[in-house]
Amino acid sequence: MEKKELLYEGKAKKVYKTEDPDVLIVSYKDDATAFNGLKKGTISGKGAINNRMTNFIFRKLEEKGIPTHLIQELNDRETAVKKVEILPLEVIVRNYSAGSFAKKMGMEEGIKFSRPTLEFSYKNDDLGDPFINSYYALALDLATQEEIDAVTEYAFLVNDVLKEYFDGLNIDLIDFKIEFGRYHGQVILADEISPDTCRLWDKDTRQKLDKDRFRRDLGGTEDAYEEVFSRLGIQ
Ligand code: TMP
Repeated sequence: MEKKELLYEGKAKKVYKTEDPDVLIVSYKDDATAFNGLKKGTISGKGAINNRMTNFIFRKLEEKGIPTHLIQELNDRETAVKKVEILPLEVIVRNYSAGSFAKKMGMEEGIKFSRPTLEFSYKNDDLGDPFINSYYALALDLATQEEIDAVTEYAFLVNDVLKEYFDGLNIDLIDFKIEFGRYHGQVILADEISPDTCRLWDKDTRQKLDKDRFRRDLGGTEDAYEEVFSRLGIQ
């Protein structure tokens, strides 16, 4: 599998075409941004960690019946994936109060919910990814009802699998963001699952092991990513 022309460069990944129109190669960067690109930096080693962690988790999710775009890990930073049409929705599941939820609700962070929440943002950088509900998504033709139903079901299933898995690593899954794509009439999980897109807290120390260390200038960002990666025990 070989990279052809660059199709798209995002904040954390580059996406290349291949000779197969159904296959793309994603290349994970060490670049990090926050607050819709306002804050910029580098998290050394992040690209390889996020690539390998995403693939490891996507394999686990596939075993549980969640279809993903993963085809094959090519090297530390690059992976061949199915070419999907990304649904312009950020799907966020929360188990504990944190981040924008805590701010909006005037709550401290780390309060465990009675049951998980699910919310959508409209993926649109110009608008700053505004919070929307399923009626907005339908009204704006961002997705069909069937797609929203599938995304909702998969998102809670991903949460169940990840919560249990991270529990075994002595990590609380506070919240996470996932994205889905259309592939031959099906909705499948795409993008990544990594410390960039999850809040992960050590169960004992409540230490943040995720991108909030970068967002909030807490220091020790590289160490936190490496700590999560080492707990995964990937060979
Ligand atoms: P939030 O509390 O800022 O809304 O973030 C919820 C989750 O989504 C958190 O795990 C971080 C993740 N996230 C992204 O992956 N990308 C983003 O652009 C934002 C704002 C959050």
